[in-house]
Amino acid sequence: MIPDNNTAGRRYANKLGTPWDGENNEVALKTELSKSINIRPFRLREDLPSVQKLWDDTLGAHWTNPYDDIRECLTGSQQYRAGDHLLALEHGKTIGFVATQTDTSQSSASEAGLLLLMVSPERQRQGIGSLLLDAAIVHLRDAGVNEVRLGQGPHSYFWAGVPDTCRGAARFFEINGWRLNGSYTDMVCDVRTISDNGRFIDKMNEQGFVLKKPTENDLADLLAFEQLHFPDWHEYFCETLRKHGSECLLVAKSPSGEIIGTAVLTSASRGSARAWCGLLGDDMGAFGCVGVRSDLRGRGIGAAITMKALLTLRTWGVKNCYIHWVWSTDWYRKFGCTAWRSFRRGVMTLK
Ligand SMILES: CC(C)(COP(=O)(O)OP(=O)(O)OC[C@H]1O[C@@H](n2cnc3c(N)ncnc32)[C@H](O)[C@@H]1OP(=O)(O)O)[C@@H](O)C(=O)NCCC(=O)NCCS
Repeated sequence: MIPDNNTAGRRYANKLGTPWDGENNEVALKTELSKSINIRPFRLREDLPSVQKLWDDTLGAHWTNPYDDIRECLTGSQQYRAGDHLLALEHGKTIGFVATQTDTSQSSASEAGLLLLMVSPERQRQGIGSLLLDAAIVHLRDAGVNEVRLGQGPHSYFWAGVPDTCRGAARFFEINGWRLNGSYTDMVCDVRTISDNGRFIDKMNEQGFVLKKPTENDLADLLAFEQLHFPDWHEYFCETLRKHGSECLLVAKSPSGEIIGTAVLTSASRGSARAWCGLLGDDMGAFGCVGVRSDLRGRGIGAAITMKALLTLRTWGVKNCYIHWVWSTDWYRKFGCTAWRSFRRGVMTLK
């Protein structure tokens, strides 16, 4: 629980105005804090309004609260367990919140994400974020987790890391022992302005490949394709099918009818693309999980899937298409997508 390098301990000692004497300082500060602050598991019905308010107060300037989605993101997964999220209360008022998500689909949980950490603005820089983070790490360690990622839950997430808009947050995580390495970008595309003009889809068709919405008969093959080629996406495809049906999926097929590529499309009316509709409009859409079988890459199939996804969203009445978690922004730029926001990637190994 206490960071190895003792940076946090020294900081706490400063706060207490006492000389540094190792772990005792940290324990002392936490004891001081815990006299007035109660940390307890989040209770959905009772606590959601105060967590939403905390979101508005801490993040609202840059990230309009996705009211429809915050509950879904925090508790919508079948693997959500009470105790995954914790609340810091002072005299009954919510002043902090931390959310975690663990992959419990395996017999022993090993990976998890820290979805969200917020401390009310007037109580920041007083050790409360660190206290909540420690409590969350204890919960994850008890669940058998080996590695925690910033932002990225195994089943849902708000962000792919720490948003660059959250000033000081990256420093906070570094100070608390996280390794920050690299970044991701979220991109947008005004789909009303794009056109293919034979550049991508025709070129793919000329090679004998076709793009279509999967039929009922394709679904078992589609899930087997994900399981084999993109196992990290398999659960997301299962969940999409369960919640929204096959309409939100796109498959590329070989001349012999084999599935060789896939993508997921969503909009407000189809699927669940509402995460940032306060910023990107109620008519926003999204697509992701564009994957092509490895032996067929480099033949323009991924580009054709991407173009088809954008054009399909346009027929759904979408204006802004949101493309999340992009590590190769140049690739998406050729379709008219532009960078929107970026995130620092971070990880912590628990021993
Ligand atoms: C990031 C956040 C959770 C930190 O919580 P906190 O209670 O303010 O943090 P602590 O008091 O425990 O800070 C511990 C140390 O982290 C570092 N730190 C925290 N906030 C910092 C900031 N804004 N700038 C630079 N360093 C910071 C400091 O070293 C700090 O110690 P110090 O105050 O003695 O210098 C809080 O600022 C917050 O709610 N921000 C808005 C939401 C957000 O950005 N969340 C992250 C994305 S999930």
